[in-house]
This record gives sequence, structure tokens and C-alpha cells, in this order.
Amino acid sequence: MKTLTVDLAGAPYPIHIGPGLLNHPELILPHLAGSDVAIVTNTTVAALYLNPLQNTLLTAGVRSVAIVLPDGEAYKTRETLYQIHDELLTHRCERKTTVIALGGGVIGDLAGFAAATFLRGVPLIQIPTTLLAQVDSSVGGKTGINHPLGKNLIGAFHQPRLVLADTLTLDTLPLRDFRAGISEIIKYGLIRDLPFLNWLDHHLEALVQRDPEILSQAILDACRNKAEVVALDEFETTGVRALLNLGHTFGHAIEAGAGYGNWLHGEAVAAGTLLAADLSQHLGWLSPNDVAFIETLMQRVGLPCRAPNFGVSRYLELMASDKKVEAGKLRFVLLKSLGHAVLTKDAPLEALTAVLSSDQGRFIDANPESRA
Ligand code: NAD
Ligand code: GLY
Repeated sequence: MKTLTVDLAGAPYPIHIGPGLLNHPELILPHLAGSDVAIVTNTTVAALYLNPLQNTLLTAGVRSVAIVLPDGEAYKTRETLYQIHDELLTHRCERKTTVIALGGGVIGDLAGFAAATFLRGVPLIQIPTTLLAQVDSSVGGKTGINHPLGKNLIGAFHQPRLVLADTLTLDTLPLRDFRAGISEIIKYGLIRDLPFLNWLDHHLEALVQRDPEILSQAILDACRNKAEVVALDEFETTGVRALLNLGHTFGHAIEAGAGYGNWLHGEAVAAGTLLAADLSQHLGWLSPNDVAFIETLMQRVGLPCRAPNFGVSRYLELMASDKKVEAGKLRFVLLKSLGHAVLTKDAPLEALTAVLSSDQGRFIDANPESRA
């Protein structure tokens, strides 16, 4: 097992990474607030890992209730959030009940937001079971739900007391979801860690094959980057944390425009990263070779490099509700060079329009069947 710390003033917390951690109650017990636990999960993950987790807790004398939600990004809604609140109340959960999010990013965001709002905030533990959740969403305290007008527009910062990443759970993850997680791993290399980007370039095929050593190393390096960024800018006020959103302004537009769930988050981030790279090239920051390098990385993973062709005006409309909009101006995370991202308000509309124009070869039919 490897352990990292998210070094937040007042409330640092550990990220444990390793195989078989779900069987270790002693890793969880010190982080429970009281004796009550409510596990929030979905039907898919419950069938695989709910009993093992409940049994682990029981061996330490801890009984838990389970709240099992429908599976999918399409359920990351206020209706599902209220369902969690309702069930927490029905089970008579209290201020000292610890909510455990067992699942991917959708469950982590939903359960986290429920924990942030139930009784004005109850303790939270994240047990991520997708690659994306292990390398990104379970760490850093962003929680929330989608709104018909945009991704993750309603939410709160609510840090977990513990992140427990059992890498064995990734064995059952479907290939498409596994690939989507690699998209967020590549992101860390692109925005701030050139040595890691080069390491990924050399080990990408082994990572896609889920080689245990390479996978653990990739999760560790991704979490190290995430923990450092979160410690520097917990509430995304200084611009440092915003850099984690490379590809996300375009990506969120792709997810919302295609209908939540049709594009996986990591897939939309991959195609969005290529659009951000194109814009960076337009501004003279990246070379054509740099953009080709990023495209090849995504292709080797099997991630989409072309975005749905919604047209320039629809993209601009979809991006107008992005959380990085400030004083009505879109802000983009772009690449000054490989391994060096910046947050900029200075992308001229002409450059953006050129990148979003369908004659740039970066687009496919907007029909979800033609993804990839
Ligand atoms: P997801 O939660 O939908 O999980 C993907 C699929 O894998 C689901 O069908 C799920 O049931 C299934 N699954 C989960 N674990 C499994 C396992 N071990 N074996 C088999 N199947 C398993 O998707 P995701 O990619 O994990 O997360 C995407 C979400 O995360 C998006 O909503 C995105 O906005 C959010 N996100 C949040 C943050 C953050 O900082 N809070 C960061 C990145 C992404
Ligand atoms: N995934 C972006 C963030 O946590 O800030």
C-alpha cells in the first residue's frame, strides 16, 4: 500500500492506494465519526463490492445501511440527491453518521454533495472504484450534480476524511470506462508534470493493459499531482486549481450537448483537450508536433480525438454557463507548452471560432453512435 496526504490546513487526510484495501477495516475505522455508516452506491457497484465492504465493517463491529441508486451520469440530478437525503432521514442518520461513497465519480459527486448538505454537513469517506475516481474525482472535495443548463453547476466543497483506492476493484471496470480514466491521468502530465507525461508516453500500452505495477504508479503520480494542486488552492480562488480543468470547458459542452451519459466524462475531456490544444496552437503556443503528440497519446489509449459537430454558435451557447466564466468572459485553460498550462481570458473570438469551425477536421457527426 502507498499513502499520500492531502495537506489541507486544519484537516489533512490520507489517500491509501493498493490492492485489496477493501478488506482492511483498520484503514477505515479511525476515520469514522461515530458508529453509524451509510454507504451510498449504485446497482452495478453494489452487486460487486457492497457485501465485501459491509462484511469488512462488520468484522470490526460496524453496521451500515446502504443507499443503492440507479447507475449513470443521467442520474446525477437533484432528484437523486433528494432520494439520498430521504433515505438518510428514513434510516434516522445523524450528524455523526459517516457517509461512504462507494463507486465512480458520479456516486462520489452525488454522495459527497448529499453529505455536504445533510444536516448542514456530515463526515464523508470516498471509496472510488473507477480509474477516473481513483485519480481525480475522489480527491479534493468537489461535489455536486448536473443541471440541464450545464455540468456540475450545483455543488459544494466538502472534503473527505479518507480516500481508499482499492486497485483490485479496477479489474471489473469495463474497458471503455478504464480508457476514460486515462484521459484524466494524461491531463496531469500535460498541465504540470512533463516527466510524468514522458513516463506515460513510454508505458501507455502497459497502462491500457492494466499492468498492476504501471497502473499503481500512474494512480500514485496522478494523486500526487492532484493532492499538490488541491493543497495550493483548495477553493479554486487563485487560478492554480482551475488548471485541472484542461479540456473541460469544451468537454462539459460536449457532455451537455450530446445528452448526459452519451459521452463519458473522460472521453469528452479527451476530445476537449484536443480542442484546447488546437486553440493553444492558434495562439502560437503549441507547435503542430505538440498537438500531434497529444492526439497520438489519446489514439493509443483508444480515446476520441474528434468532437461532435454542434456548430460554432451552439458550442458558444453551451460554454457560456461554464463555471470559469468571469464577468461574462470565457476563461480557458490552455497549454503554453507540453507540461505547462495557463488560465487565460485572452483567447480572441476569431481564434475560438476558427477552432470550432467544422472545416478544421476536428469534428464528427453529432450523432452519439459516431463517437470515436
Ligand atoms: P461513473 O461514476 O459513471 O462510473 C462509470 C461506470 O463504471 C458506471 O456504470 C459505474 O457503475 C461503473 N463502475 C464503477 N466502478 C466499477 C467497477 N469497479 N467495476 C465495474 N463497473 C464499475 O463514471 P466515472 O468516470 O467514474 O466518473 C465520471 C463523473 O465524475 C462525472 O460526473 C464527472 O463530472 C465527475 N468528476 C468529478 C470530479 C471531481 O473533482 N469531483 C473530477 C472528475 C470527474
Ligand atoms: N477535477 C477538477 C478539480 O478537482 O478541481
